[in-house]
Amino acid sequence: MTAAAAQVVIFGGTGDLSRRKLMPALAAIDQQEPGRIASVVGIGRRPKPDAAFRADITGDLAPDVRGAFTALAPRVFYRPADVADRSSLDTLERALAELPGGDVGRLYYLALEADLFEPAVRGLADAGLVAERGDAWRRVVVEKPFGHDLESARALNRMVEQYLRESQVYRIDHYLGKETVQNLLGFRFHNAIFEPLWNAHHIELVQMTVAETVGMGLGKGRGQFYDETGGLRDMVQNHMLQLVSLIAMEPPSSLDPEEIRSRKVDVLRALRCPDPDGMLAEGVRARYVAGEVDGKRVAGFRSEEGVAPESTTETYVALRAEIGTWRWGEVPFLLRHGKRLPKRFTEVVVHFRTPPLSLFDRPGDLDDIAYRRALRSGALCEMRPNVLRLRIQPSEGIELTFGVKAPGAAMRMVPATLDFDYRERFGTEPPEAYQRLLLDALHGDPTLFLRADEIEAAWRWVDAVRAGWERARVPVLEYPAGTWGPTEADQLFHGCEGSWSNG
Ligand SMILES: NC(=O)c1ccc[n+]([C@@H]2O[C@H](COP(=O)([O-])OP(=O)(O)OC[C@H]3O[C@@H](n4cnc5c(N)ncnc54)[C@H](OP(=O)(O)O)[C@@H]3O)[C@@H](O)[C@H]2O)c1
Repeated sequence: MTAAAAQVVIFGGTGDLSRRKLMPALAAIDQQEPGRIASVVGIGRRPKPDAAFRADITGDLAPDVRGAFTALAPRVFYRPADVADRSSLDTLERALAELPGGDVGRLYYLALEADLFEPAVRGLADAGLVAERGDAWRRVVVEKPFGHDLESARALNRMVEQYLRESQVYRIDHYLGKETVQNLLGFRFHNAIFEPLWNAHHIELVQMTVAETVGMGLGKGRGQFYDETGGLRDMVQNHMLQLVSLIAMEPPSSLDPEEIRSRKVDVLRALRCPDPDGMLAEGVRARYVAGEVDGKRVAGFRSEEGVAPESTTETYVALRAEIGTWRWGEVPFLLRHGKRLPKRFTEVVVHFRTPPLSLFDRPGDLDDIAYRRALRSGALCEMRPNVLRLRIQPSEGIELTFGVKAPGAAMRMVPATLDFDYRERFGTEPPEAYQRLLLDALHGDPTLFLRADEIEAAWRWVDAVRAGWERARVPVLEYPAGTWGPTEADQLFHGCEGSWSNG
């Protein structure tokens, strides 16, 4: 066993997240860094022999991951414990110490329902499971949702601080494990050609979409959880605001984790809280009704299992946000997320400003003066020649659009695109987000995990949006499943700012 070997203990080891994401990720890490994982221990309340636990996991794995898991399987164990029952945790330390790597570093993963985070952290601490001795470090990965508003997130942070040092806490947002999300840092701060333009002088607007085709799915309790949460809290508060912070942050002075996280939190703190009086114009919320997605009839949100028939929860949200910093001034950040949309994709689109003098592509029937007047009044919207599209999923890549002269006698400019596609360039799929994040946690690198203040800053803004919605009585509109959401969201683009990109 190498000195860096560690034990990974998954509370919720029999759950959906563990089976679908964590076990395949651990099997891949075991191949990537042999000797890093001493053992993996799944924890749940029900008794289960190790062999049955291994067989359950193997049965769930995609055929291409089974091979990797075969090598790890003899080091995978199952131990029953109830995190809400202190006495069962008291005996856990001894049980874990007897398994391979019991005396080395240990990573606890809380793949549990959110209301078990508190008893789990408290229980682990009371039972001495998080006490560190020499090289025997103890770290705790906490899943989302981290709180449901600012107050609950603060309370959770204060509770966690009581029992753990911040350096032991790894609050996960799996979006940050995506290769293309990390590439936002590389793209911005390695290439000198974009950074000078990355500000309000040259960027007119940034839009971001996280579109899903799925509804509530068949996950146990998913409908009820979502009905209590909604799209703003489930997607915007975490994944989308993380994207915003990476797009908008100031250059860090180094890749030191605290430096990067401090620059990100600066952005979240600078998000302007919406003015409730302007809320009707700055935000749209809606829920899907029955419709058709991928050629199949699907039920409306209120008919999904676990969702209240009179639910007012949003499954679609579109917001016009602003970041009150010198760099961003009044550049709008348009954020859109929806379920049951026609296509699954996540992307960020940066619209650069049009050139100060419009020399090309004027309609033939307008003279110089009439053309300029039409541009000024907004009667004629110019096409933005330069658009940068950062594709996060499902096809990862970067596209830069610029104008080129079309062949012929006329000086007619048309769009052309430079396209970087991750798979084409590297001949491989990007690694799974959980693989990268679990490995970072094993290495003790918290860069891609959220700090307490980041979570709180994001909740502050999300709470302000929710309060604005309530005060302004912003209605929850309806959209048929399989459409791009309510047309009211198109009004979030003002004048000639453009329109939503549909991937
Ligand atoms: N599933 C995903 O794709 C996904 C994605 C992102 C985030 N998450 C988050 O990850 C967490 C887990 O989600 P999940 O979908 O995996 O849930 P799940 O399928 O319901 O699994 C819950 C797990 O927790 C265990 N458990 C429940 N009560 C326990 C207790 N008192 N003590 C010890 N173990 C207990 C269950 O085993 P027993 O019943 O045997 O105790 C089971 O293994 C949630 O916070 C969720 O929001 C999930």
